[in-house]
Amino acid sequence: MPKLLWVALPLLAALAWLALQWLRGRPPSRLALNIGASLLLLAYVGTTAGLGIFWVANQQLPVFDWHYLFGYGTVLLVLLHLGFNFPLVWRWITRRGAARPSAAVDDASARRGTLALLGGGLFAALAFMLGLRHGRSELRLDSAPLAGAGTAAGAAPARVAGGDALALVERFHAFSSHSRRGVLLRAPSVDWGDPPAPFKRYADAPSITLPPPRSHRGAAFDGVALGTLLWHVAGVTEERGTLKLRASPSSGALFSTELYVAVRALDGLAPGLWHYDAEHHALERLSATAPDDAALGAAADPALAGAEVLLLATALFRRSGHKYRDRTYRYVLADLGHALENALQAGAALGRRVQFVHRFDESRAAAALGVDEAEEGVLALLALHESARAPVLASTGAQRWAPPALGGDTAERLGITGTLHRATSLRAAVDGPSASPPASAASSRDGAHGGAIALPQPAAPPHDGVLALIARRRSVRRFASAALPLETLGGLIAGLRTPDPWSAALRMHLVVHAVNGLAAGAYRIDLDAHRLLPRRAAGVTRAAPRAAALDQDVIGDAAAVFMLTVDRAAFAADPAGAARGYRHALLEAGRVGERLYLEAGARGLGVCAVGAFYDEEAAALIGIDPARAWVVHLAALGVR
Ligand SMILES: Cc1cc2nc3c(=O)[nH]c(=O)nc-3n(C[C@H](O)[C@H](O)[C@H](O)COP(=O)(O)O)c2cc1C
Repeated sequence: MPKLLWVALPLLAALAWLALQWLRGRPPSRLALNIGASLLLLAYVGTTAGLGIFWVANQQLPVFDWHYLFGYGTVLLVLLHLGFNFPLVWRWITRRGAARPSAAVDDASARRGTLALLGGGLFAALAFMLGLRHGRSELRLDSAPLAGAGTAAGAAPARVAGGDALALVERFHAFSSHSRRGVLLRAPSVDWGDPPAPFKRYADAPSITLPPPRSHRGAAFDGVALGTLLWHVAGVTEERGTLKLRASPSSGALFSTELYVAVRALDGLAPGLWHYDAEHHALERLSATAPDDAALGAAADPALAGAEVLLLATALFRRSGHKYRDRTYRYVLADLGHALENALQAGAALGRRVQFVHRFDESRAAAALGVDEAEEGVLALLALHESARAPVLASTGAQRWAPPALGGDTAERLGITGTLHRATSLRAAVDGPSASPPASAASSRDGAHGGAIALPQPAAPPHDGVLALIARRRSVRRFASAALPLETLGGLIAGLRTPDPWSAALRMHLVVHAVNGLAAGAYRIDLDAHRLLPRRAAGVTRAAPRAAALDQDVIGDAAAVFMLTVDRAAFAADPAGAARGYRHALLEAGRVGERLYLEAGARGLGVCAVGAFYDEEAAALIGIDPARAWVVHLAALGVR
């Protein structure tokens, strides 16, 4: 039964009773109507208040907030009203005093009012206690299997308790999945505290203010160009009231990403370690020495050789955590994937190749940056090179690796977010044999049905450059009902292929609502052959995807919805280890999501990334088996 019907059920029942009375020729008296309305009011206010109080406790929302006061005030007045009028209602129900309304308000009213207030207080306390206790099911990840795997230090991470790492990721993914039942069955038990400031600052560090990014016209890649690159990753591109919107999208506009640069040799900027102060478009100098490869646990990695600048990206987990709780790790990775794709795009536009470094030691990198890794995890390391230099893919370098260390305060403080971060991290070993990486997964393809549909591949439309596209990028949530031309969709899909994927596990699907020349339904996107493979047509209406995306209109109103999935076998076979493979797959999903924003922007279309969805419903929509693949990211596409 639709939710609306459930909510309206008491009202409908009352109306039906009323109609019946009229038909029987016994219309209810004015008093009976008054009492019936009072009872309904009581039921609705009581349910609303009970659910609200339960939710406040269950989700650790602040108990007092100014806008709650109206709600508390309403409940108080209803209780008082009930106290004074309860005798009237009771007599009417028991048919003892229906004809004597004036007798209802008697001397005992005040006492009854007090009793009603007390009863209401007890009811609120009960709802609160239930909210606190209900669903205390915080996932406790047992650190023993992974940390004590008994494998010699130095083995490649994928071989170190690879099954355990995978099991850990699987438990995390299942635990952080949204489901309708889970909303009531689970309560977060991490105290996320107050959200940290939206911008990090090192007030005591010497800083230099960078010139406005748009003024960068020089051909040489220097300090100013580096500033331009950073601005296109994390800079403030628009202010709406107090909200500072950034070059990259971020879930809930919380922007947990922080950027640091280790400058090794660059014109116009002194070597050393710098933090990007995005709010003021400035660089703060944290150290006069840039950390070397060993300090980052990436000794002699060919990807780092000759790099002018290293870019280190962290996530301040609490920025997202206080909203996204146990799903935080997924969000910060998808956010970062969007941001880093902008780094690659802006770097290329400025004449630099930005190279992803697949393996480094997070703890060492955090120490080099001087950050508390439990609060601010180092999630990615990139190297900036001259464009002419060929990329080095998934390099192993000379570094030897030890199993990830789980447990301890750093992992426990933020619950499964901290544990997952530890699990997807690598540890540089001091000694031990260097292991050859396992072969990467043969990219498994899930089956599709019916005839393939070749996509048109028109030339990219003219636009004023990727830097301008990034600067203008915004999430669009309101779409016209107009259908998308198939040509446009084909051209856009062609632009989604990343030439140097960071993960072999990412797959793409499309739910079509309104594309000219394409039947509504779910398709798998075969990027290599540039075609669509039909998967499901029946039941894929606008309502189902909207419902799967927590009833978000942006999904229901879109002309098409991209659904990105990760193949479980493929990420488990990541050369850097099964758990690290999960991180790489989510980053790659973010990268493709960002390409979608830019490709759509170039065509005047609108996109909105969506990370909030019921995982199983989303999988069912595109007909994938959760035993083999998981939906990790959605993006709505439509005509603005
Ligand atoms: C990983 C990710 C998940 C997101 N999930 C949602 C979502 O579920 N619903 C939504 O309306 N917007 C979502 N967004 C869009 C953000 O709300 C948006 O990026 C943010 O408000 C900043 O606005 P801007 O993109 O216009 O800069 C998501 C963005 C990202 C990167």
